[in-house]
Order: sequence, then C-alpha cells, then structure tokens
Amino acid sequence: MLNIVIFGPPGSGKGTQSEKIIERYGLVHISTGEILRKEIKEDSDLGKIAKSFIDKGELVPDQTIIEILEKKLESLNNVKGVIFDGFPRTVDQAVALKKMLQRHGEDVNVMLNLEVDRQELIARLLKRGQISGRSDDNLETIEKRIRVYEERTFPVIDFYKKEGTYTPIRGVGEINDIFKRISDAIDAVKV
Ligand code: AP5
Ligand code: MG
Repeated sequence: MLNIVIFGPPGSGKGTQSEKIIERYGLVHISTGEILRKEIKEDSDLGKIAKSFIDKGELVPDQTIIEILEKKLESLNNVKGVIFDGFPRTVDQAVALKKMLQRHGEDVNVMLNLEVDRQELIARLLKRGQISGRSDDNLETIEKRIRVYEERTFPVIDFYKKEGTYTPIRGVGEINDIFKRISDAIDAVKV
C-alpha cells in the first residue's frame, strides 16, 4: 500500500492537492474535516460534539478522532493506499496512526508538508469563506485555527522527521506546479 499524510496549516491546500493525488494514484481519501462536516450536516451525536469545537476553531478531542479513523480504516479492504488529510493533527494522533497501520503491516510512506505563509493562508480562507458556507471560514476563527495549528499540530513535524518520512513542499504558486512537486516526491518513495 501507499500511505500518504498530507499536512499543513489551514488553507495550505491539503484538500485541493488530495483530489489530484487520488486521481493520479488511485488512493482512498480520508479527510477528518470532511467526515466531521458530514456528521454535522446529518445532525448526529458526533456532529453535535464536533460542531462545538469546529465553530471555535479548536481541535476535536483525540479520542473521538482516533475512533473515527479506526472505524474508517477497518472498513477498507483491497485498497491501493490511503491519503490522510487533516490527520494526524497532534503527536498522540500520529502515534495512534502508526499503531493502527502497524496492525495491518503498514506504515506511512511519506509525509508531505505544504509550506504556505500566514498572510497567504488568511487571504485564501477569507476568499473561500465568501462561498464555502464553512462556519470556521471567518477572520476570527481562521486566526484561531492558525494558532491552534502552531501550538498543537506543528510538533507533528518532528515526529515524522524522526520517522524519516518528512518531506517539505513549497505550497505557494500555481496548483499544478505544486502538484508536480508533490508527485515527484511521491514517485521517489513509491515501491
Ligand atoms: P479541516 O477540514 O482539516 O480544515 P483545515 O485544516 O483548517 O484546512 P482547510 O480544509 O481549511 O484547508 P486545506 O489545507 O484543505 O486547503 P484547501 O485545499 O481547502 O479541519 C476543520 C476542523 O475540523 C478543525 O479546525 C478541527 O476542529 C476539526 N478537525 C479536523 N480534523 C481533525 C483532527 N485530526 N483532530 C482534531 N480536530 C480535527 O484550500 C484552501 C483554499 O485555498 C481553497 O479555497 C482553495 O481553492 C484555495 N487554494 C488551494 N491551493 C491554492 C493555491 N495554490 N493558490 C491559491 N489558492 C489556493
Ligand atoms: Mg481541507
């Protein structure tokens, strides 16, 4: 299997690039943000819990997210690989993912870190906010999400540096140029 973590701050292009990656490499896309937004739309119990965190720009508790991931992974069979988008977001989530994959004799093959400066992130998300309907695409919540990223998610980079799979990708410029950098990185690890 080819297991990819696509990583980066809010608005760095994880979702945009994931779409292109799944198209080229035939992977299953697991976006925890999308899973949670679907639950919110359905007004499920999980959705109600998730909404209280997402609307404030905070992270949903690790245990909740890890359970979602476990269920999702168990439901897959015979897949070429998985792209994890928006997960892991804490070091505990990264450790949990490693254990989950290990049970299947798998591991993360490459961690792609999309590097985009703060001004650009805010500009992109404000622009998207005009049409997305996402409750967290407003200036106050965008700034909070970036702070939470810096405090709780940034340390995940060190985890993958130690794992030896960390790959920085310049995430600014044309979407197709960024995808070229990404596909070169994936092709370099592809077995
Ligand atoms: P999540 O849905 O993961 O959101 P996020 O990390 O804040 O990131 P975004 O989805 O906003 O951005 P993106 O990096 O996907 O960029 P995109 O491609 O859309 O999480 C939302 C919330 O859910 C969290 O705050 C948390 O509460 C909860 N959550 C989710 N996962 C969790 C977890 N594991 N643990 C705990 N809580 C969790 O691009 C952004 C915009 O820029 C788009 O409009 C796009 O068109 C545009 N764009 C993309 N590329 C370019 C480019 N090259 N140039 C110009 N514009 C571009
Ligand atoms: Mg996204």
